[in-house]
Amino acid sequence: MKEKWIGKKQKNQLTKNLNAKKEYLLQNQELFGKEIFLDITQKSPPFSNQLNTFEKNICNCEKCDLHKSRTNFVFGEGDKNASLLLIGEAPGAQEDLEGRPFVGRSGKLLDKILKAIDRDRFNDTYICNILKCRPPENRNPSLSEVDKCKPYLNHQIKLINPRLIVTLGLVAASTLLGKDSSLKDMRNNIFYYMDYPVIVTYHPAFLLRSPSFKKNAWEDFKRIRDYIKD
Ligand code: URA
Repeated sequence: MKEKWIGKKQKNQLTKNLNAKKEYLLQNQELFGKEIFLDITQKSPPFSNQLNTFEKNICNCEKCDLHKSRTNFVFGEGDKNASLLLIGEAPGAQEDLEGRPFVGRSGKLLDKILKAIDRDRFNDTYICNILKCRPPENRNPSLSEVDKCKPYLNHQIKLINPRLIVTLGLVAASTLLGKDSSLKDMRNNIFYYMDYPVIVTYHPAFLLRSPSFKKNAWEDFKRIRDYIKD
């Protein structure tokens, strides 16, 4: 075999790569024991199958620039075995401050809506967002932010394994379902995401701005209640 001489810089880089691989294998061993699972679709370390540990795995994420302006990573909260999974767009100012989803004005309305269908956010219900970090000035999530954050949401959905997903607002619906339709057109359908049924309804912040739509939202939530009824 022909020997190849490498420079100091290249050698340092190779050592760095080797150390990163070693760290990856050690982390894998810690999570899954001595068996090695290779996931060729995923470059980052494997995610835990425990929701709490998964949150710890990813809460220091720096995959996009939103980590620079966030106060807190907003993973989501609720019953980890919930039959109902509510998905919003992204944390707002209050959510960013508290590290919890839907705790501002729109969250208060969401709590009232859940109460009206005999639930609360910790009872057979889980709430999270498409993005885990707040976009500055609450702007819409960018495509690249969604691309980077979606694997987290997908894994979260698999772990919670809900009977029904409900998206809140047009941005959450169109980003999750990859559809370009209006909310009005999507509302009365059932869609599927990763084989999970999805119902689309209004964002509570929109209902605060346009209270005349609360009647329609109530129709949606009655449908949601009936869909997950035992
Ligand atoms: N709006 C969202 O979409 N999500 C939150 O968590 C809060 C406000």
